[in-house]
Amino acid sequence: MKIIHVSDTHLVAAGGKLHGLDPGERLRQCFEDIVTHHTDAELCVLTGDMAEAGQTGAYALLKQLLMLLPMRTFLLLGNHDHRQHFCDVFSNVPRDSNGFVQRSKVTSEGVLLFLDTNEPGTDEGVYCELRHAWLREQLAQHHDRPVYLFMHHPPFDVGLPNLDAMRLRDCEKFIQTLSDHNDIRHLFFGHVHRPIFGKWRGISFSAIHGTNHQVPLLLNKDPHNGAFAFCQEEPSYGVILIANDMTTVHLQPFLNRQTIYYEDYK
Ligand SMILES: [Fe+2]
Repeated sequence: MKIIHVSDTHLVAAGGKLHGLDPGERLRQCFEDIVTHHTDAELCVLTGDMAEAGQTGAYALLKQLLMLLPMRTFLLLGNHDHRQHFCDVFSNVPRDSNGFVQRSKVTSEGVLLFLDTNEPGTDEGVYCELRHAWLREQLAQHHDRPVYLFMHHPPFDVGLPNLDAMRLRDCEKFIQTLSDHNDIRHLFFGHVHRPIFGKWRGISFSAIHGTNHQVPLLLNKDPHNGAFAFCQEEPSYGVILIANDMTTVHLQPFLNRQTIYYEDYK
């Protein structure tokens, strides 16, 4: 099974700029690359921060751009998103019984869980008791299937101080809930605007670039009076391959596709 992972599109209304770039144009280029090379993907996941400031116009632009993709799409909220504005535009998006934008999908390779860590008024990720209850129910219902998690905020520090200050709160409670299931295969997240791979409490994880602006690899506290550091490294999306006992994550830059050439290898 192939899954496409796109993150942190930070759209503004059509034609608008962010960090000197056009996030809508960037996402169009990303989607066109996906259409050129990965129409066989079963689905595409956007792990949050779809809009820069939760604007209705940004979600309207996203809705328009998503029409480029032939596969099903699963949209997650990030800290920059606005739940109600998003649901106003995507009125058919499934929500749990408490109104959070989270859902599950059973596939041939296991169950995918899409979590909502957005909390109005803070950039930190929050997973409240209501959401924990939903997750516990999902894990119990799918106790005999492998589970793959998708969320915006990482539930642990990644070594980037500015981002670690706004990771998921109360990661101990989160890992405690996950411990109800004995086959969590992988955790995919956004938020960090960087490719980051590793393992947390026995669960492998991966994060990818945003499609617009990126976060530099500054492992020490940024000295600029708390100002957030950004950069314009080349963006990429993720190509996830899941088969039997294997999860593989490829990163694909999409702005400057290089010419492929062939030589005899001896
Ligand atoms: Fe972001």
